[in-house]
Amino acid sequence: MTEKLIKPVRCLRGDISLPGDKSISHRALILSALAKGESRITGLSVAQDVMHTKKCLEELGVPIRESAGAFFVQGVGTSGFQKPAKTLDAGNSGTTIRLLSGALAAQNFTSIIDGDESLRKRPMRRIIEPLELMGAGFESVSFKAPLTIHGGPLRAIDYASPVASAQVKSCILIAGLAAKGITRVTEPSPSRDHTERMLQELGATVHYSEGMAAVKGPALLNATAIDVPADISAAAFFLIATCLLPESEVTISNVGVNPTRTGILDAMSSMGAFFTPGNESESNREPRATLTAKTSELFAAQLGGSLIPRIIDEIPVIAVAATQAKGKTIIRDAGELRVKESDRITTIAENLLRMGADVKEIKDGLIIEGPTPLHGAMIDSYGDHRIAMSFAIAGLIADGETLIKNSECVDTSFPGFFDLLDSITCD
Ligand code: S3P
Repeated sequence: MTEKLIKPVRCLRGDISLPGDKSISHRALILSALAKGESRITGLSVAQDVMHTKKCLEELGVPIRESAGAFFVQGVGTSGFQKPAKTLDAGNSGTTIRLLSGALAAQNFTSIIDGDESLRKRPMRRIIEPLELMGAGFESVSFKAPLTIHGGPLRAIDYASPVASAQVKSCILIAGLAAKGITRVTEPSPSRDHTERMLQELGATVHYSEGMAAVKGPALLNATAIDVPADISAAAFFLIATCLLPESEVTISNVGVNPTRTGILDAMSSMGAFFTPGNESESNREPRATLTAKTSELFAAQLGGSLIPRIIDEIPVIAVAATQAKGKTIIRDAGELRVKESDRITTIAENLLRMGADVKEIKDGLIIEGPTPLHGAMIDSYGDHRIAMSFAIAGLIADGETLIKNSECVDTSFPGFFDLLDSITCD
């Protein structure tokens, strides 16, 4: 276990590029594997989570090679995986286990997929129930990983998901590719729609609107070239750090700005943050832009309702920003945070308290009153990459030194995070 020492900095300035979007990277690998022909993927994230997906696919008989920074995936069709020789390992990655379960449900064999200690605690009933309705068989203890999946022919379903979750929706849509008829998912609030966009890009018949997605099966996906934009969830740490520090300005190029992911820009703008988008373009149906952040005076906001799925991964760092915003920031309707890589409501609140913030944990969110000066502290990341990175940002604006325990977990989504942060700090 490594510990990272964070010292306060004067300002941040520079132009940076960030790793590929993690959500889009998983989908690029999985959907290319289910297609016919060879797909070429550029900009793929090589973070641990995505590499777990790659390794699982290789163990399922999907040839993947890398050349000059591009990944070439030889698709095997929607039911063409080979039975793996051993248990598949999703590591820390909820996206890997949930999306791959959808594909495994359609294979003519039994497989087992497992993960690390954190993933073994996360709820899987949300995918087991719909996949069983489609005809797959499951064995698990208390609906948690390891999952034994008895795959086979599937039937299309019309499913109302009780949670707004892109992982659940994508799992069902992926299973639906192999089922005859229309598989349809509705959800209480719209979640990220990268699967729908990419399926369309690969030639599937897909219909989607806010809170609904449907795919027609059996579908034949055609291999294509996919370029993954930079990850807006990774950008969030730099955008917010820039707002919080004096005389700072940072520009990040080629960031994915799919509207189902830009809640961070909306939430922070409503708090007074100064962001400018430029160079807007679109590739593979995913919009992208250059984002510039500048030092900003922040005010409290009420964040809830349908905004929450659009900021779900950014709430830890938004909470850090809220400690510096004038007034009472209330984050609610965010109970899903309790079933992420850690119980993020508790891990945010505990660590903010250690730094001297005025924070109160509520059942489905947090109440943070600001502005409060933060002081350096011993932070426990609980092995959660977004907690480690959010509190590294808090450490930049704190008085004194901050030590982040178990800091290597940032590699889950963002290898090189600390070096990149170092590279733009002003002396
Ligand atoms: C993701 C969906 C979200 C998000 C996760 C990635 C995805 O999870 O928190 O980091 O790639 O589909 P849920 O679907 O559980 O909300």
